[in-house]
Amino acid sequence: MKYSALKGVHDIFPPDIYTWQRVEEVVENVFSAYGFQELRAPVIESTEIFIRSIGETTDIVEKEMYTFPDKAGRRITLRPEGTAPAVRCYVEHHLYNLPSPQKFFYSGPMFRYERPQAGRFRQFFQIGAEAFGVAEPKIDAEILSMLRLLFERLGLQGLNFEVNSIGCEKCRPGYRKALIDFFSDKLDGFCLDCKRRYDQNPLRILDCKVEACVKLRADAPRVTDFLCDECKEHFNTFLSYLKSLDIPHIINPNMVRGLDYYTRTTFEVTCEDLGAQNAIAAGGRYDGLVEDFGGPPTPAIGFAVGMERIVSLLKSSGGQHIPSPEVLIAAVGQSGEREGLVIANRLRDKGIWAELGYAGNSLKSQLRKADRLAAGYVLIIGDDEIASGRLKWKRLSDSSQGEIPIAEVYDFFK
Ligand code: HAM
Repeated sequence: MKYSALKGVHDIFPPDIYTWQRVEEVVENVFSAYGFQELRAPVIESTEIFIRSIGETTDIVEKEMYTFPDKAGRRITLRPEGTAPAVRCYVEHHLYNLPSPQKFFYSGPMFRYERPQAGRFRQFFQIGAEAFGVAEPKIDAEILSMLRLLFERLGLQGLNFEVNSIGCEKCRPGYRKALIDFFSDKLDGFCLDCKRRYDQNPLRILDCKVEACVKLRADAPRVTDFLCDECKEHFNTFLSYLKSLDIPHIINPNMVRGLDYYTRTTFEVTCEDLGAQNAIAAGGRYDGLVEDFGGPPTPAIGFAVGMERIVSLLKSSGGQHIPSPEVLIAAVGQSGEREGLVIANRLRDKGIWAELGYAGNSLKSQLRKADRLAAGYVLIIGDDEIASGRLKWKRLSDSSQGEIPIAEVYDFFK
């Protein structure tokens, strides 16, 4: 019987894992400079949490959630995203009683039953960040500057920062009505999904990728023309901060995002090299969600980065780092094997990555193995070396070689 992983999910192993680990390390460094602390929420939540926050008429909730009853008949969902669980945690543990802002980051697998294609998976990893308690647009700009620093540190180039404001519960109804009026005589030309969206959630039409719908909405009213004074002021101040921070950006009034909880600022970071699935990070404000979840009114903003997409960009730009052992100990004969094991132990105890050759391997094949692993050094130990108390060493980068007393082997690598 042969088994394979499920469609749309992946194993991650060397050498790719090193790129993943590098991204995670850079993320921790950058995010901690901005005061974000780690939050680990469960992978399963009650289904209601996602319906309530992401929205009943969104693609995620309508088509993509992994939802099942547990043994007690509760409706459970594998998290499709990390914002709703973070808000649930924030409210459940009364974190709003702590000084504001509370800033968290998380990383881990998310699950969406989508049609798999390049850059789109059913299990994918996000690194996300959420900041609770600040309404001022200063934090919106800080969030974008944190993303810019992250991508700069990772050496990613050719990225576009697209920003928009989709207003608040005060101005959104006016925009919704303008869209309904505009689309009313165009319904026949829409795809089936957009026909449905027209009644339930007309903003979603702006998100549709079907060519006919894209054409029909070309002259649709722009959300930025419908913002109330407060939202306009918020957006303009945000844009002026981006200018002060030298963050190049594009205003994209069609960017409404596929989740319903957003208010005001929304943004996406895209990269043309990625093809159709070109968003590597996305997010925005969700000023009403904490209250919706039973907490006090609390403005909030966050984003999530798609790990697979970042890793794929890093791999194609040659940014992959593969670590190698510092030393391989090639042993000949029984006493050599034993002494080699002891020396390896001593080195490992000091944090030095030491590999061993194994029984049945000739010296030649152990040396070949050292080459294949790109080890820094080879140490050779056999009966002669044990008798003289001195080891032979060889540095693979320049083929230099020499001898050292066995007792000094740790100092040699220090
Ligand atoms: P999202 O736009 O659904 O937002 O996802 C964020 C990022 O996750 C995308 O830009 C993309 O890089 C990656 N992603 C999404 N779906 C897939 C998939 N099927 N396969 C591979 N990568 C994918 C959210 O999830 C929001 N929770 C972001 C947020 C946080 N907003 C506020 N706070």
